[in-house]
Amino acid sequence: MDKETIVHKSVLLNESVAYLKVEKGLRYIDCTLGGGGHTAEILRAGGIVLGLDVDEYAVRHCEKRFEKEIREKKLTIAKRNFAEIGHAAKEIGWEDRQVSGILYDLGVSTFQLKNEERGFSFTDKGHLDMRMDETLSVTANDLIYALSEGELSDLIRDYGEDPQHKKFAKAIKDLAKKARGTIRAEDLANVIKNNSVYKSGRINPATRVFQALRIAVNSELESLKESLRQAPALLKPEGRLVIISFHSLEDKIVKDLRRAPALKEIAKSPGVPSSEEIDNNPSARSAKIRIYEKL
Ligand SMILES: C[S@@+](CC[C@H](N)C(=O)[O-])C[C@H]1O[C@@H](n2cnc3c(N)ncnc32)[C@H](O)[C@@H]1O
Repeated sequence: MDKETIVHKSVLLNESVAYLKVEKGLRYIDCTLGGGGHTAEILRAGGIVLGLDVDEYAVRHCEKRFEKEIREKKLTIAKRNFAEIGHAAKEIGWEDRQVSGILYDLGVSTFQLKNEERGFSFTDKGHLDMRMDETLSVTANDLIYALSEGELSDLIRDYGEDPQHKKFAKAIKDLAKKARGTIRAEDLANVIKNNSVYKSGRINPATRVFQALRIAVNSELESLKESLRQAPALLKPEGRLVIISFHSLEDKIVKDLRRAPALKEIAKSPGVPSSEEIDNNPSARSAKIRIYEKL
């Protein structure tokens, strides 16, 4: 498929922008720019946006999509890991207590999933890369070869929470031997399927293994923790932190913000997408949105 015809359907779009309480002329940070869906809504409501993404393709796509807004200084885009949110804000002169809202829409974008060379998808014919940031040096393929079977099993247990981790680690190491240096995403997904006790069903049996590798390659949990450590200081009083997460490991880190002294949680239970949204966009099925407000 032509990359330019791919559209990323933004998850919980109206809800997240409403929770940010966007006001004209105030400052917002979109930590996960992706296709720019959330940023477009914040801009439409009159917000001034700093958009971050580690993915070169996402950055280039949004620079083109928002050419006018960038020229009018309503949007600044930076190719940055959100773990560096503090620096990124200060680089454009946004100091502590000057930002009205910060948004995270975690996980991968449709652009990343549909690009066959990146190895994020169960059907990718390309090699198992999984780096969101192409400047990282270790791919998922490298990781599989570098780790022992025991280490791989622990990784699938800890980052994929998959009870079949031991069996899968053995099957993946066997595949690695046969693949002689280059494992294809599709072959990995098939090996997991063949070794899983769950062969049919709505969810692909390789979902948790792919999740585990992706988390490890991109240091996703460490980046999220670091970013959420820095974000509250940037917010002005009553400024909001809105976070959309897609699995329990992310949600656990997000929930820890309850203990941050400078924040209050807006609702005890997280928001979830409507059944219409899930029917329309199955990738939204595991999304949870949590909102915190600066005291
Ligand atoms: C689900 S997509 C965001 C989609 C976007 N909200 C939209 O509506 O189009 C997540 C994006 O976050 C980016 N991302 C993931 N981890 C990141 C990190 N640590 N720092 C910056 N960007 C990150 C990914 O590259 C991806 O483009």
